[in-house]
Amino acid sequence: MRVALLTGGGDCPGLNAVIYAAVRKGINHYGDEFIGFLNGWKGVLDNNFMPLTLEAVDGIQLRGGTILHSSRTNVKKIPGGIDKVQEVLKANKIDALIALGGDDTQSVTLFLSENGVKAVGVPKTIDNDISGTDQTFGFDTAVMIATEAVDRIHTTADSHNRVVVIEVMGRDAGWIAYASGVAGGAHVILVPEKEIDIDHVCALLKYNYDHGKHYGVVVVAEGCHLPEVGQVLGSEQVDSFGHVRLSGIGEALADLIEKKTGYETRSVNLGHTQRGGVPTAYDRVLGQRYGLHAIDMVHQEKWGRIAVVRGLDITDIPIKDAIATNRRLDQRFFDVIADLEAKV
Ligand code: F6P
Repeated sequence: MRVALLTGGGDCPGLNAVIYAAVRKGINHYGDEFIGFLNGWKGVLDNNFMPLTLEAVDGIQLRGGTILHSSRTNVKKIPGGIDKVQEVLKANKIDALIALGGDDTQSVTLFLSENGVKAVGVPKTIDNDISGTDQTFGFDTAVMIATEAVDRIHTTADSHNRVVVIEVMGRDAGWIAYASGVAGGAHVILVPEKEIDIDHVCALLKYNYDHGKHYGVVVVAEGCHLPEVGQVLGSEQVDSFGHVRLSGIGEALADLIEKKTGYETRSVNLGHTQRGGVPTAYDRVLGQRYGLHAIDMVHQEKWGRIAVVRGLDITDIPIKDAIATNRRLDQRFFDVIADLEAKV
């Protein structure tokens, strides 16, 4: 078969591991040929691609980012977009498409597969919020990077008797905040699933200062809601999927904490450092397992489906089930956060 791959949406450590494994198994086991469209769906519309040979993918599983580059291009909003995609796939004699991406990218994969394109999906996001899968690759790397930052903040916050607020990624779900906050021993962990209770935050910090620890570490997810403010936007601009750019909750919260408690407070926004650099060993393995399953899905003609992890297994579900809602933290995780907090 002639198979095309593409990577859409925000990049994510482990994307190259997926590409590597799908191409290796496809060529060695099934005798496939591969091309990779560049810059996500934009590359399909522009007919811009590179051949993916064994040589082209050699060693890429160790590397961060995506050798195919990425963009947030919504084919559904482009007049004639679907026809153009079909035309380009036909012109390149593509038998099947593997799209690596989050819910936005997969909404396009679903739309295309409903319109006759033979396509399967691989879920991608450091936010770990795609439904139906236990874990997306890239999340482990992001948590490792965020945890290292939380660890490091302790000593500088302690030295200066300060509160430091660390903003991490997580638009709709607080998986990174939860995991890095717990792993890094943050005193306050704030997730988008719950509106921030500023009095409770201040009480937790006050507990530290009243009990001999004259500093505090707060981890806040970018998507958290501040009372009376809501989400804090980095820009009013929306991308082609209608998402605003979130950024600044850490700074806004730090100001509020300082005003309310009188404790000197700083903020740090980890931003895209969480998506950069090499994937962890875990994400390299997970990414390769997703890639191997994706090429099997192609040969089993599982169009419109997406690979998912369930416990120790990799399987697949309809794309529409994976993107219907975001996978969010629930009471089990709120309990972990609450049980680890100071008793105030
Ligand atoms: O991939 C998801 C995500 O990491 C979100 O947590 C974040 O809001 C967004 O991407 C930022 O993406 P970008 O600035 O690259 O558009």
